[in-house]
Amino acid sequence: MSEVLVLKLGGTTLADQAHVLDEVASLARQRPVVLVHGGGKRLTEWLERLGVPSRFEGGLRVTDQAALDVAAAVLRGVVNSELVSDLRDRGIDAVGLSGVDGGFMIAERVPGLGLVAHVVGIRRDFLDTLLVAGQVAIVAPLARDEHGIVCNVNADDAAAGIAAGLGARQLVLMTDVDGVRNAAGEKLAAMTADGAERLIAEGVIKGGMVPKIRAALQAVSWPGAEAVIADSSDPHALTRALGDPTYGTRITAAREMGEAPAGTA
Ligand SMILES: Nc1ncnc2c1ncn2[C@@H]1O[C@H](COP(=O)(O)OP(=O)(O)OP(=O)(O)O)[C@@H](O)[C@H]1O
Ligand SMILES: [Mg+2]
Repeated sequence: MSEVLVLKLGGTTLADQAHVLDEVASLARQRPVVLVHGGGKRLTEWLERLGVPSRFEGGLRVTDQAALDVAAAVLRGVVNSELVSDLRDRGIDAVGLSGVDGGFMIAERVPGLGLVAHVVGIRRDFLDTLLVAGQVAIVAPLARDEHGIVCNVNADDAAAGIAAGLGARQLVLMTDVDGVRNAAGEKLAAMTADGAERLIAEGVIKGGMVPKIRAALQAVSWPGAEAVIADSSDPHALTRALGDPTYGTRITAAREMGEAPAGTA
């Protein structure tokens, strides 16, 4: 398994990211980092400003051509360039790209959502070349589908596809909540596939948390791999997400001791 860290910053949290980028910068001096970003709030603001309607289904943004144009402009243009610039300010050799560049994200259209695609693989050699050269790859969630049409990709899905394709041991999904909550509102320290599917079926996990959990599960198919969903607002968010087992919610493929399998009391 690879020591590369795949980190996703949520669009909801991008405005307040300076301390996370400080942590990314110091970590990137020790190990390879791929940073994937969303853009939810920024994108919604721009869509509203330009009068392009948008709606969500199952936590995924339904995307027509007008919405895709704005998504590409905001994600690859505004948000990605800002992140590259912010990391370069911190002395990091950051390079911006989307899944379209180098054809590195291999994606397939998700039926019924318009121009939305799901990552099914990556061109690992392309990404490895950047990482071996000491560059931090900053990835905007866009990719070409099986017909070569540029599509919007949920950023959690993009991060998970990259983590799975690189065989990364750690995927960190930073967001605006402290982890995954159960029906009683308690934050779960750990969660496995069975527990996650149960909470999704019960409607306890909903909205943007559904694609996030599904993405996390996709990324932990390697034995020993772990995905962490954690709040980016803590001043030591990344350090804690990587090293403090009480911080965020840790998702692994195997059943944890003490967690009842689905269907048992
Ligand atoms: N069971 C749950 N536990 C915790 N959060 C949940 C749960 N169910 C739904 N959510 C919602 O999921 C949201 C996080 O997903 P969301 O897609 O909004 O943010 P993001 O993925 O960080 O940002 P972006 O989509 O812009 O990249 C939380 O703000 C919370 O409202
Ligand atoms: Mg989201």
